Order: sequence, then C-alpha cells, then structure tokens
Amino acid sequence: MTILVTGGAGFIGSNFIFHMLGKYPQYRIICLDKLTYAGNLSTLSPVMDNPNFRFVKLDICDREGVYQLFEEEHPDMVVNFAAESHVDRSIENPEVFLQTNILGTQVLMDACRKYGITRYHQVSTDEVYGDLPLDRPDLLFTEETPIHTSSPYSASKAAADLLVMAYHRTYGLPVTISRCSNNYGPYHFPEKLIPLMIANALADKPLPVYGEGLNVRDWLYVEDHCKAIDLILHKGRVGEVYNIGGHNEMRNIDIVKLICKALDKPESLITYVTDRKGHDMRYAIDPTKIHTELGWLPETMFADGIQKTIRWYLDNKTWWQTIISGEYQNYYEKMYGNR
Ligand code: NAD
Ligand code: DAU
Repeated sequence: MTILVTGGAGFIGSNFIFHMLGKYPQYRIICLDKLTYAGNLSTLSPVMDNPNFRFVKLDICDREGVYQLFEEEHPDMVVNFAAESHVDRSIENPEVFLQTNILGTQVLMDACRKYGITRYHQVSTDEVYGDLPLDRPDLLFTEETPIHTSSPYSASKAAADLLVMAYHRTYGLPVTISRCSNNYGPYHFPEKLIPLMIANALADKPLPVYGEGLNVRDWLYVEDHCKAIDLILHKGRVGEVYNIGGHNEMRNIDIVKLICKALDKPESLITYVTDRKGHDMRYAIDPTKIHTELGWLPETMFADGIQKTIRWYLDNKTWWQTIISGEYQNYYEKMYGNR
C-alpha cells in the first residue's frame, strides 16, 4: 500500500504521517509538500530516515510535477491535506487560496483519474457549513447541512468539496470527504488561536482576542482527527462525506483564560482587538454518522489534550521560536500592529 499525503509538512498532515507510519509499518508514505510559510521540513525529521517514507517538495498545482510523481510511485491512495488554511490570511489575500485549494485539488484528482487509485480523500472543514447562532445550542452541523460559507478560505474549501463530488459522479473517481472541527495539538502553526496564545503568554506579550471573545469553536485533539481519517480510508463508503468532531464547544475567551492559568500568567495580558471580518459565531459538529458507521469516537478529552499541548510547546520551544523569528514577524505586525 502506497499512500500519497499532500501537505504533510503542515500541522495535521505531519501528525497523520506519524500516525500512519507508526500503525502500518508495511505501508509506504510519500509526502508531497510545497513548503509554504506553513510547511516545516524539520517537523518531519523523526521519519526522514524511515525507508518507507519519502518527501518530495512540490506544488499540488504543478500538473507536470504531480503526474511525474504518480508515474514514479503509483500511489494506491491520496489524502489531500495541502491547503492554505488560515482564515485571516484569506481575508487579506484570497487569490492563493483559490489557486491551491481549488485548482490544486483538481490537478490531484486529474492525476488520480489518469493513473488510477483506489481512494482519493479530501480533508475538508466544518467551515463549509458556515456558522450557527449562539442561542441555539440544539443546532449542530450534520452532513446534510447546506454549504453556506463566510470567508474566502471556507468558500475555497467548499468549492473543492463540490469539485470532488463532481469527479465522483462524472468520472466515477472513488472519493471520500471528511469535514472536521478545529484541531489542536503538537506542530500547530503559531498563527492559530491556541499556539499563538501559548507563545505570546510565554513571552508576556498581549493576547489578542477578537471582538468580545464569545465565538465558539468545537475543539478536537489532532490525533483523533488522524484516526478518523485512517478509519474512513479503510472502512468509509466511497462517495460519502463524514463529519468529525467530539462535542467539545468552547468560547475563545475561556480557552485564552485557561492558557493563562496553566502558564501562571495574568489575565491582564488579554487584549480585546478589532473583530475578524465576517467572523463565524459558532461551529458544532454532529459526529453521529462516523460514530455509527465506523465506530469512531474521540479518545482525548480536552482537559488532557490542552495540558499535553501546552507541555509540547514548553518542551519544543526551538520548533516554534524558529518559526516566529522570521517572516512571521512581518505577518504579525501587519495583522495585529494597528488592530
Ligand atoms: P497547515 O497550514 O498547517 O498546513 C498546510 C500544509 O500544506 C503546509 O505544509 C503547506 O506547506 C502545504 N501546502 C500549502 N500549499 C501547498 C501547495 N500548493 N502544494 C503543496 N503543499 C502545499 O494546515 P493544517 O491546519 O494542517 O490543515 C490541513 C488541512 O486540514 C487543510 O486542508 C485544512 O483546510 C484542513 N482542516 C484544518 C483544520 C484545523 O483546525 N487546522 C480543521 C479542519 C480541516
Ligand atoms: O473549524 C476548522 C477550521 O479551524 C479550519 O478549517 C481552519 O483551517 C483552521 O485555521 C481553524 O479556523 P478558525 O478560524 O476557527 O481558527 P483560528 O485559530 O484562526 O481562530 C479560532 C478562533 O479564535 C476564531 O474565532 C478567531 C479567534 N482568534 C484567532 C486568532 C488567531 C482570536 O480571537 N485571536 C487571534 O489572534
């Protein structure tokens, strides 16, 4: 079994590679990644010497390069994590999101059609469903919830999902799609809420909370997401969408306060800043389908997962301090300087 994992030098893709190589030592894993600002080759250093692992620096939009890789490796399955993933960046510059997230997905699926695969899996997001009101805790996203996007990022992911389903219906490509809620855990890029707050708190810098901090996200430990994708690849039904989430809704402000407490930092570091444009209020996944069909359940409770995550950032300062010492400073200044 050879699996092509795109975007494997990023947060979730790298965790997925570690999971797969650990659980299936006989599988060959090829990681294709462009190494954008969000991709980090050092993340993959624990597996670089594994004879069943190969890293290829490549853009998923590079049709010729992708076809050549398929010629060489003839993957059985493709799992597409490669994407521009940060909502705030999509608001500043949508174009690269459309390029990578939509057209890159098309190139990968064209290669799958040309060379043949047993499964193309698209890693999508709960953001394609838009948001839910705060005063209706009974409402959750199911796989039948209409697509209703808010940001250029979520619109690009929704467009890709529609294209994946079109390739299934029109060309019979054996596809699956998963739509997961917010992940947290090791190797999370420090532009995202949880690692950003940990890094800033450790440096006694302001903790920028958008709006009033009342927006709700449904947090899942990254390993649980990886296990769900593993199950979908092996047991999921072709042509189906599976929602992934663990009923763990939390307000942003409560997460930030919890991080302050865990690091013994004062809440006075919390700074309320101008809200994100088009800010989604609440995400909440109904995972009934993946639970009943595939037996998936989250294994890491938030109270444990967040402590493990904070511990990881304390133990791996070089990893994130290297990231925030370069180009990231320009990004941070632009995003938060006058906010
Ligand atoms: P990330 O930004 O940490 O990593 C993205 C990776 O893709 C990076 O390694 C980057 O170099 C690579 N990449 C970007 N453009 C590329 C291109 N054109 N060609 C090849 N590689 C390219 O993202 P993440 O948080 O790990 O998210 C991975 C996937 O999961 C994305 O598709 C995202 O939409 C989805 N997702 C993320 C979350 C979350 O909470 N982070 C939740 C649900 C779904
Ligand atoms: O729901 C899945 C999605 O989760 C994924 O598809 C995206 O790729 C991933 O980035 C994530 O999107 P969010 O926008 O929910 O994550 P982010 O960490 O950017 O923000 C989480 C919440 O915290 C959101 O309500 C905005 C808020 N926030 C974020 C940052 C970076 C702040 O208040 N301050 C900040 O500095």
